[in-house]
Amino acid sequence: MLRRRGRTVIASPNIWHWPELYEVENRAQDVDGAIFAALREITPWSGRVVVDVGCGSGYHLPVFAEAASSVIGVEPHPPLVSLAQQRVKHLSHVSVLEGRADKLPLASNSVDVVHARTAYFFGRGCEPGINEALRVLRSNGILVIVDLDATAHPYGQWMREDLPHYNPGAVEAFFAEQGFSLRRVDTTWRFNTRQDLNEVIGIEFSPRVALRAERETVGLSLSVRYRIHTIQKTLVHPHRAGVDQR
Ligand SMILES: C[S@@+](CC[C@H](N)C(=O)[O-])C[C@H]1O[C@@H](n2cnc3c(N)ncnc32)[C@H](O)[C@@H]1O
Repeated sequence: MLRRRGRTVIASPNIWHWPELYEVENRAQDVDGAIFAALREITPWSGRVVVDVGCGSGYHLPVFAEAASSVIGVEPHPPLVSLAQQRVKHLSHVSVLEGRADKLPLASNSVDVVHARTAYFFGRGCEPGINEALRVLRSNGILVIVDLDATAHPYGQWMREDLPHYNPGAVEAFFAEQGFSLRRVDTTWRFNTRQDLNEVIGIEFSPRVALRAERETVGLSLSVRYRIHTIQKTLVHPHRAGVDQR
């Protein structure tokens, strides 16, 4: 995935250019549900208002909708807004809005959980989005950021080979400085066919690294580690107010 800093909308070629393949990828990702199990432990959302920032085609919205009182997906890329709206049109308590992490189309103090998965919150530069999440969260609300952990497993090595300037340690230090807690989650990605696996690898990596990844992968599964960064509104507000004034 390409991540360009200093821009309010971050290019996401994988899902922007190949939404059908990204659907295959989402179905293969974390087949045992380890991330959602961890999220439920961190912050149960039964009867609560959940926002999924950078929701893409809305793949995760129905999962939150099973228990939440309402769910709002926010996504800047208009074709994905349409796909997400289509996905949840039968769910009356779910809506999808066009918008960005740094300018959420939501009232202050109106949300219990802000979730983002592999979207916008990639380290330094995402401070405006953190401030926006804290604005829309109610007191005691929580911001939960799920991202790939490039320190682990072959998948992490392939990521670092494609992004030589990406420093996972610096990203973790950034979130720690901002007051976030960290939890790591190991997942299994499992594909139905080798063709699906190869095609998904092809939208995630450069041709050279994709070739290496194909060679180094046996069978239909990949081990992929994630980081979950969390921060609760009340615990952070005074500190962040100080940060904002710098
Ligand atoms: C890799 S996709 C992940 C989509 C979704 N979270 C999922 O797990 O299926 C990253 C998403 O972040 C969105 N995005 C890019 N810039 C953004 C911003 N400034 N605010 C919110 N979302 C953004 C992209 O349009 C894309 O849909």
